[in-house]
Amino acid sequence: MKSGNIYFVDQGSRQAAPIVLIHAFPLNHTMWNSQISILSEKYRVIAYDIRGHGESDVGDGQYTIELFVDDMIALLDHLKIKKTNLCGLSMGGYIALRALERHPERFSALVLSDTQSEADSDEAKVKRSGAIQLIKEKGLAAFAEGFVKSAFAPATFTDNPEVIQAVKEMILKNSPLGICGALLAMATRTDTTAVLNKTKIPTLILVGEKDQITPLSAATSMKENIPNAQLHVISCAGHLSHLENPTEFNRRLLVFLEGKHKERQKDIDEDIKEGKERMDTEGGSPNEENKYHDLGGEA
Ligand code: MLT
Repeated sequence: MKSGNIYFVDQGSRQAAPIVLIHAFPLNHTMWNSQISILSEKYRVIAYDIRGHGESDVGDGQYTIELFVDDMIALLDHLKIKKTNLCGLSMGGYIALRALERHPERFSALVLSDTQSEADSDEAKVKRSGAIQLIKEKGLAAFAEGFVKSAFAPATFTDNPEVIQAVKEMILKNSPLGICGALLAMATRTDTTAVLNKTKIPTLILVGEKDQITPLSAATSMKENIPNAQLHVISCAGHLSHLENPTEFNRRLLVFLEGKHKERQKDIDEDIKEGKERMDTEGGSPNEENKYHDLGGEA
């Protein structure tokens, strides 16, 4: 299973603190274009296509969230990044939370956007099964029509139809096998609620005010469980809040990372004053532009 190419972009200064962006289902890393462009002025931004999505290999289509976590950690190892900021939206958040549970030492701050820690309910599992059936019988275009209806706020259909069209195109670029595999991975994911109150790193939770897929109640419950987490509701946005209101989303993200960076600088200054030795683990290897990372073996 651990084989094949993972496509990623790596932008910004190699000296800067890294941030890894994990996209939503069933999109690809280009959904982060606005965030990549803004964040890379100050941070090293790594955005990749989850296996089965975008330009990454599809392989056998048998995926789990565990495998998606392994892929992300393998990518960090390949880039020699020991510790990073991590931001996941929706399925990206499911991966981020499980990665935090399994590898807490690899992350310095967490952004959870339009996501939840709970596993699928029985009803949600049955819906995934229906989606797989629909894709098999009618193809990705039929699935994409239904997906955008629940993913976007009603106003986005009139105010920003271009973004809806762009998302449909992103969905259609995927292979049906990859998308059905991701549906099964989400249906079989573990509940990560237990990791929330063990989370020691700064955490920002963002949610679109009209998110119907992972609603405000899910975001509020994560905030109540994560010590010192911040929660901000993104106005005029549904589930894909970073696309529907990128101005507010990006501002929240930058303010959070900046604040976290200042805290970190304060710690460094204090350690220096106290003569403590500090092993810096943020930052990594030379900058690479767009690349494939071969995880080895047959795809
Ligand atoms: C996503 O946006 O990643 C998915 O819609 C999440 C889900 O279906 O649970």
